[in-house]
Amino acid sequence: MAKDWWKASARDIPRIVVEPPGPKSRTMHASACRYFHGLSSQVKLFPVCFEQGHGITLTDVDGNRYLDFSSGIYVTSLGHAHPKISEAVAHWAKRLMNCHDFTTPVKDELLSKMAAILPGRLHAIQFYSDGTAAVEAALRAARAITGRHEFLSCFRDFHGKTMAAVSCAQMSRGDVLAYGPTRAPGFYMVPRPDPYRPTFAKPDGTIDTDAYLRFYDAFIREGTAGNVAAFVLEPAQGWGGSIFPPEDFFPKLRAFCDQRKILLYADEVLTGMGRTGEWLCLSHWNVLPDVVTFGKSFGNGFPVTAMVVSEENAGALEKISASSSYGGNPMACAAALASLEVIEEEELLENVRRVGGYFAKRLQAMKQAHPIVGDVKGKGFLLGIELVKDKAGKEPFEEAGQLVYQKAFRKGLAWIPAGHILRMSPPLIMDEKYAGLGLDLIEESIAEVEKQFGYR
Ligand SMILES: Cc1ncc(COP(=O)(O)O)c(C=O)c1O
Repeated sequence: MAKDWWKASARDIPRIVVEPPGPKSRTMHASACRYFHGLSSQVKLFPVCFEQGHGITLTDVDGNRYLDFSSGIYVTSLGHAHPKISEAVAHWAKRLMNCHDFTTPVKDELLSKMAAILPGRLHAIQFYSDGTAAVEAALRAARAITGRHEFLSCFRDFHGKTMAAVSCAQMSRGDVLAYGPTRAPGFYMVPRPDPYRPTFAKPDGTIDTDAYLRFYDAFIREGTAGNVAAFVLEPAQGWGGSIFPPEDFFPKLRAFCDQRKILLYADEVLTGMGRTGEWLCLSHWNVLPDVVTFGKSFGNGFPVTAMVVSEENAGALEKISASSSYGGNPMACAAALASLEVIEEEELLENVRRVGGYFAKRLQAMKQAHPIVGDVKGKGFLLGIELVKDKAGKEPFEEAGQLVYQKAFRKGLAWIPAGHILRMSPPLIMDEKYAGLGLDLIEESIAEVEKQFGYR
């Protein structure tokens, strides 16, 4: 497969033929909303209806064509309708869609492939069909491995929406009011180092990682039953706004967990499989997790997820049956296997590192140039822009976040809002030309909003 399979459809994007959301989008969306309730802010703030995707391009029902800076929601990371992946799914769709958890040739091949690419001895694997189910399995596995039942996770983490996953995630005030309490007994949240907004800082204002660890130590002694099975973390917080910890956090946390025989569980549903330029985001800090989950881009849009533990803990997985209706079905395994092969064949980890460097440089320049850009974040293709009312006070600028999101979308950029932090997760196939084009649309929109609020 030629690496540039997506380039022809991207030639003239963005192409806006009618101001979006156009008349067909508006009518269709209103029709759907008679019955569907509970949309994300991504859709509520820009209710456009899509009918096609190819590579880095999305087309709406009015014929507008957008540059994709969201990969759905961190999902279609290898481009929409990647020919190799679509064909692999179609092959099994015509041959064998489901046979419970019996072994199939494609499942066997996928397992061997995963064992070959994952670092360390992360060789004991189970398959599921959404990220949340893999997270639930990881929590069960951690209990089965350690015989303990408590969990620590971090403020602003997200791990899914079932009860145990919600128990280690920060839900919005609205969620808590609607169906709270959201935390089951034995689940605790602790602060996590955010270099831009440190809870614990040194006298010079820089983040104090050791103070966080001292707090965790005190919290475990004073606030838990001393029965902590695992520390549950996203290596970088996706929903939280592409927030990366300081470089010394994970190496120190690994040692902290080892000293207390607590498992380190990295939820790589969003960060894994190449998004930051490594198979595992945690590899940036040379840290190995005991438990890890993959999802979102794992099957490039086909629902397939995985929970993996290190080989020495494989026995515990026997105690938590992975049998489910859809987990590891042949189409799912084919999508995941083809996706891993595409990452290798198209040298996408290298592309993410190279173009990620370009993103980082441009974002830093944006931070210097714009009074409302308080901070820029990211590694590889997992990026964020934090908007503030003034750089000294760092007050979050929510209204600006919404407006910049909507303005850039109207110009032809499909992307992701998160309050005052704008999030970007472009397909990993993107080159500098389109990366620059997307950032131009964002920067123009930021400048317009600054003008609107009297900053220029
Ligand atoms: C880190 C993380 N874990 C788990 C999930 C849940 O995945 P899913 O939506 O596939 O259930 C998400 C979803 O956004 C996530 O970002």
